[in-house]
Amino acid sequence: MATMITLPRPALILTILFLVIVILPSACRADPDPLQDLCVADLNASISVNGFPCKPLHEVKSNDFFYDGLSKEGNTTNVFGSKVSIGDVLAFPGLNTLGVSWNRVDFAAGTGVNPPHLHPRASETLVVLKGKLLVGFITTTHVLYSKVLKAGEMFVFPRGLVHFQLNVGKGKAFFLAAFNSQNPGVVILPTTLFVTTPSIPNEVLSKAFQIDAKVISDIRSKLGS
Ligand SMILES: *[C@@H]1O[C@H](CO)[C@@H](O)[C@H](O)[C@H]1NC(C)=O
Ligand SMILES: *[C@@H]1O[C@H](CO)[C@@H](O)[C@H](O)[C@H]1NC(C)=O
Repeated sequence: MATMITLPRPALILTILFLVIVILPSACRADPDPLQDLCVADLNASISVNGFPCKPLHEVKSNDFFYDGLSKEGNTTNVFGSKVSIGDVLAFPGLNTLGVSWNRVDFAAGTGVNPPHLHPRASETLVVLKGKLLVGFITTTHVLYSKVLKAGEMFVFPRGLVHFQLNVGKGKAFFLAAFNSQNPGVVILPTTLFVTTPSIPNEVLSKAFQIDAKVISDIRSKLGS
């Protein structure tokens, strides 16, 4: 017979308190909190840390906190008909240690798509500023949650879950997206699987997708590999 461990009542209460106060907040937290007012990333520093070292304070200028990389429409002439303009810490060093970043995504008229992808280090909220987009994410139990959004409307993609957006309006579309990480990272499924160096062996993709080598090389060449 298996022995069951029963905790005395005070120990049980302490265990629950520990879970609620210590474990849950750290599981929900995104990037670590800053320990100083500002820490503009020195992208050229030779030492390697989790994040980036700070630029010397006497070299910091107002422009370190300014970024106009999302002000222009992206060029959507590509296989997907969409363009992601990135505003993470690498593009905008002033974000270093602050735990936030933004992207802009433009969609060509017709069927511009931001293909299925995920961000390993951040949840994402987006607000559509122009056009009409079908957006959705898929859970680890294969449930799709999706919605058609128009200008001013928002959606959220939980951290690490696969999601996509498709232009379903008449003209162009774009949105701005906010992340709770200075460096959300991105895993784009089609290119991650079919455009790597070196290539994933055909046997792996053949078996995974139940397709033959010809289809694999077709996909690779269409994705520019
Ligand atoms: C990094 O180096 C490049 C080229 O040497 C320079 O233009 C740039 O200003 C440097 N960036 C920082 C943050 O020091
Ligand atoms: C957009 O990108 C395409 C393909 O790279 C290029 O041919 C075209 O000149 C670009 N358009 C603009 C306005 O930069």
